[in-house]
Amino acid sequence: MTTLPSWLAFDPRGPLRLGPRVFPGRIWTASGCFGYGLDGADLGAPGCGSPFDGLGAVVTKTVTPEARCGNPPPRLWETAHGALNSIGLENVGLSRFADEVVPALEARGVPFVISLAATRPEEFGNLARRLAAAADGAVHWHGVELNLSCPNVAEGGVDFGRDPATVERCVAAAREHLPARALLAKLTPNVGSIARLATAAARGGADGVTAINTLIGMDVDLSTGAPVLPRRRGGYSGPALLPVALARVDEIVQETGLPVVGVGGIATLEDVLKFFAVGAVAVQIGTAQMSDPFAAAAVAAALAAAERQAR
Ligand SMILES: Cc1cc2nc3c(=O)[nH]c(=O)nc-3n(C[C@H](O)[C@H](O)[C@H](O)COP(=O)(O)O)c2cc1C
Repeated sequence: MTTLPSWLAFDPRGPLRLGPRVFPGRIWTASGCFGYGLDGADLGAPGCGSPFDGLGAVVTKTVTPEARCGNPPPRLWETAHGALNSIGLENVGLSRFADEVVPALEARGVPFVISLAATRPEEFGNLARRLAAAADGAVHWHGVELNLSCPNVAEGGVDFGRDPATVERCVAAAREHLPARALLAKLTPNVGSIARLATAAARGGADGVTAINTLIGMDVDLSTGAPVLPRRRGGYSGPALLPVALARVDEIVQETGLPVVGVGGIATLEDVLKFFAVGAVAVQIGTAQMSDPFAAAAVAAALAAAERQAR
């Protein structure tokens, strides 16, 4: 059993208030690494636990206005210290998501955060408005996370998330329609100053930020000399990301004091404690969840079982 260190500024086993919502826990799953949070439904025989046990929230795969087929395979490539992915935001689109996925998540009774992405800033507002109308009565729907690491079609394909003014516009557009849900902006690490993006998100009305999305990465197949991913570069995640994510969370906390949900390379309670040490209010588990769907539940159980060291 791990002992919770005495230097922790708060008891991480307690609930977390983010804007208008209270989350029952601080260990969440990360977007894209646990499907819609339903794939785990049949895992675990009776008495063997569930991958949802003890989770503070499940963050859904990112949903876009229309359904997307995603990128050609291979979409996932294992590297020595992490994984490269190029999924291409495959998803069922907002209408089907609201009609079929939201009721199923609601029935499961796990707090969920819906990840949204669009290709134009004003579309974030439309998505939030449609979702708010369609899922108004969903009591387990705690929040929305804006995936801002997508190409902005209106601005020539540069990621929304790299320009503070655009981040502020996207967040403000969504906030208007989501007064009763926690609103998080998920930030890209592929910039000079991530703290500037966090400040912009707060100006737009975000209750906090999620940091970080994947780093840009690539690998080459030496038998052909070609990139392993058909679209050449992809998103790099997994254990190698942890020190990068930790530094980015630290930068945001130190420079802005905003609530940060930390994500990047987390697999164990020890990893989680490092994020709490630099000031994260909650954490998400991504790539580790793909090789073990019980990873986040196991970390949540370890946290719940840990004893607090006396000060
Ligand atoms: C296969 C895969 C799919 C992902 N899909 C999404 C996504 O749809 N939306 C999103 O915001 N992040 C997505 N991510 C990024 C993760 O949520 C997370 O920010 C990142 O992988 C770093 O955390 P990790 O090292 O624990 O995986 C994806 C990551 C992976 C590995």
